[in-house]
Amino acid sequence: MARDGAAYVCQSCGSVQSKWAGQCPACAAWNSLVEEIQSRPPGAMAPSKTGRGRGLAFEGLQDATPAPPRIATGVEEFDRVCGGGVVPGSAILLGGDPGVGKSTLLLQVAGHAALRGAACAYISGEEAIEQVRARAQRMGLAAAPVKLAAETSLREILEGLKRDRFDLVVIDSIQTLWSDAHEAAPGSVTQVRAATGELVRLAKKRGVAVLLVGHVTKEGTIAGPRVIEHMVDAVLAFEGERGYPFRILRGAKNRFGATDEIGVFEMGDAGLSEVKNPSALFLNTAGERAAGAAVFAGIEGSRPVLVEFQALVAPAAYGTPRRAVVGWDSGRLAMILAVLEARCGLGFGDRDVYLNVAGGLRISEPAADLAAAAALVSSALDEALPQDCVVFGEISLSGEVRPVSRMDARLKEAAKLGFRKALAPADLEGVAGMTVSGVSRLADAIRRIRDVEWA
Ligand code: TYD
Ligand code: MG
Repeated sequence: MARDGAAYVCQSCGSVQSKWAGQCPACAAWNSLVEEIQSRPPGAMAPSKTGRGRGLAFEGLQDATPAPPRIATGVEEFDRVCGGGVVPGSAILLGGDPGVGKSTLLLQVAGHAALRGAACAYISGEEAIEQVRARAQRMGLAAAPVKLAAETSLREILEGLKRDRFDLVVIDSIQTLWSDAHEAAPGSVTQVRAATGELVRLAKKRGVAVLLVGHVTKEGTIAGPRVIEHMVDAVLAFEGERGYPFRILRGAKNRFGATDEIGVFEMGDAGLSEVKNPSALFLNTAGERAAGAAVFAGIEGSRPVLVEFQALVAPAAYGTPRRAVVGWDSGRLAMILAVLEARCGLGFGDRDVYLNVAGGLRISEPAADLAAAAALVSSALDEALPQDCVVFGEISLSGEVRPVSRMDARLKEAAKLGFRKALAPADLEGVAGMTVSGVSRLADAIRRIRDVEWA
């Protein structure tokens, strides 16, 4: 039996268990259950003092008082992802891997907003004031009137924020805060939830926009941003590959705007610079796209993402040909190879096949079938696809190319990123600036690639 008031909380999904287990029964994460003291049983309401409420005061859908204008921070890519600036009184969570540049981005946002006249505070629980200053200097923001503090105590932070009037407050990071009202360790689900709850309340009550940094962790030793996603108004994800300077800001949830906006930045010596024309991200790397490469216009979760499939088909040196795949399902690769052989007469039996999804991404959509097939065919024929072409479509065992979900969003994202052609399922309505080369059978797609014949 668990001790009174003790419970095991999954640091990954936040579910509460009465017994410890190696694997969380709710989200199946391993080694994520940690004992935490609960101040009251999970889910229970605080005991009522008066016994009766006062009743609701209902209001109409229309409000006579206009909403306060959004704060345009001056970092345009950031403002766009937020839906056109930061809404006063909102809470925004910025999640991302450690080291991706969350602190840099939000210091930049606070600095530029302060230079435009907003009252901004930057509270760091991870770095000393000197470190933040040095970073601001490097980014050319030393003159920005941002109020700095290094603090991890929630009580002190709330008190400090009540004393002054702020438009925008950055908390870096939510996982370093601790509230003395809870016994659990900083970074635990209990503490992270309590701190977020208090800060969101403060944001709503005083009309301050609160930007929270949340580290994403795989180990589950500290609570991930998932456990507070439902408490905040917007969740932004900051992504980037180690070794590449590009960073992508995506809206994962936004109560005040669309979530299919992305912001692209480049990390340099003087902080993050905005990439106004993100197609450079994909087109810059080489002059011509090599044979064996196909850009897949995919959907990750609710958002579009473009990623390169790379294939290498080479004569097999020894008996059994090798099949190696990174970032995609090997069963799916076997199926595509079988369809290419049986329906299109393109045999791979005596050849090694390697397939790689660039950027360390893992793709699980069936919509990637045609992109994988295009990369394989392109490598086998040594015929490169056009530089500005994206590919998507599901392939059936009979060799048909089938429509997939959200084709319009895929085309729009590709157009936004500078692509002009698409090899896609037939009878697809195009979008502005995109030429769609529709194919209803895989054999047609191969013909297009072979003859470099584009509609
Ligand atoms: P940081 O914002 O500290 O990441 P996070 O808060 O997400 O953990 O940024 C980390 C990396 O950014 C660090 O490795 C150094 C690099 N960086 C630059 O390359 N140029 C810069 O101007 C700054 C400020 C950081
Ligand atoms: Mg940081």
